[in-house]
Amino acid sequence: MFRPRDEYAEPFRIKMVEMIKMTDRPTRERLIREAGYNVFFLPSEAVYIDLLTDSGTSAMSDYQWAGMMQGDEAYAGSRNYFNLKETVKDIMGYEYVVPTHQGRGAEHVLMNTLVKPGDRVLGNMHFDTTEGHILLRGAEPVNCLAEAGYRVSEESDFKGNFDLDKLEAEIKKCPGKVPFILITVTCNNNGGQPVSMANIRAVREIADRYGIRVFFDAARFAENCYFIKQLEPGYESKTIEEIAREMFSYGDGCTMSAKKDALVNIGGFLAFRREEDFRKAVQWQIPFEGFITYGGLAGRDLEAMARGLREVLNLDYLEDRIGQVRYLGDLLVKAGIPIVRPVGGHGVYVDAREFFPHIPRDQFPAQTLVVELYIEGGIRGVELGGCAFGRKDPVTGEDIWPELELLRLAIPRRVYTDRHMNLVARALARVKERASSVRGLKLTYQAPVLRHFTARFERV
Ligand code: F0G
Repeated sequence: MFRPRDEYAEPFRIKMVEMIKMTDRPTRERLIREAGYNVFFLPSEAVYIDLLTDSGTSAMSDYQWAGMMQGDEAYAGSRNYFNLKETVKDIMGYEYVVPTHQGRGAEHVLMNTLVKPGDRVLGNMHFDTTEGHILLRGAEPVNCLAEAGYRVSEESDFKGNFDLDKLEAEIKKCPGKVPFILITVTCNNNGGQPVSMANIRAVREIADRYGIRVFFDAARFAENCYFIKQLEPGYESKTIEEIAREMFSYGDGCTMSAKKDALVNIGGFLAFRREEDFRKAVQWQIPFEGFITYGGLAGRDLEAMARGLREVLNLDYLEDRIGQVRYLGDLLVKAGIPIVRPVGGHGVYVDAREFFPHIPRDQFPAQTLVVELYIEGGIRGVELGGCAFGRKDPVTGEDIWPELELLRLAIPRRVYTDRHMNLVARALARVKERASSVRGLKLTYQAPVLRHFTARFERV
């Protein structure tokens, strides 16, 4: 299934480096207090190992950098746009491509194009910005993740799968109110968990029965394809290209945050199978993102994105990438740290409720763990739990808590070595030793939408 990590090495040589440095503990304690115990407000120079996100943090290749020099900075008709369009057509099979400044730009355009107030957008598990855009349209985001996806320690494959019965029941509940189904591959919010080809095919069949479109949130599509190759019977000898082609054949288009599996620092796009969808989308894309052939990006960004999309399909790259994530996961398991099992595609997720059983939900155990890990080792993770996904019931004013309360350690692509991972594991193990004496946090400021980005806390 997965090759042992010591049987291969990184499939690249390192041509350029950036120095990083460790701060001392009193400095970190001061900085995190000044940041309102929210790591989004930390200066990144005060972070030693930055696992806040795998988004826009990839190291680009020499091939991508060479492409940057060939940017055709034209408002209309840049050659880099046509290269991107050809690449998307080749890999995904979608004819119509509109670039956007990043993934949420694509979400914004898609929601405005297809979603009306009162609609319900069904997905396996929507990402936070996706959820935000659906809510901003006056529509309702509905997650139809299969139960196993919520059980953090259950070792089953494809925990990003839909509960197909639930999906169909939700469609029947509100006829005519579902503009499309969104399949997020891999599923970020519950651990970067993959969706199987069989499940994707079944979603398409259900959608066809009700005349509903299917879109992919393709941010981590290549990682999903790698899991299908490793884990799903019948796909072992297929190439990643073949798997991607089949997967996207079940969709009517996709949104893409190129900051993940296109290995670039900024960029995204929206792609469609049908010209009518494309024409409508362009009406929103032009005023918000720029003309069709640049979408808020420079020609050089489009070129790097096109090249990254091809590079990410390389099997040696994917094996090393996902192998490193699993390497960190294995270290944490050995240290007795409760993580989401099995380890997913782009990061390791720690179950904060089990880590801090004495901290109640309204004192934000996962956010507390993020803070403690930074203080302990200068390592920045991110909370995906009660702060990111909790909200107040608009009628009763009561807190609605999400199922999961996680610290995510997202690993940038081609950036850190396994020795960095060793330090991350050691720091978390040290936090675990003093876990019972750690106090939770009190929320002192929150915005109405996407509150985790700007929330501020105090120690309880
Ligand atoms: N969809 C998924 C599944 C994502 O993970 C993200 C971003 C987006 C859409 C939005 O894309 O950032 O380019 O606008 N995820 C980042 C993360 C921010 O850290 O997981 P974007």
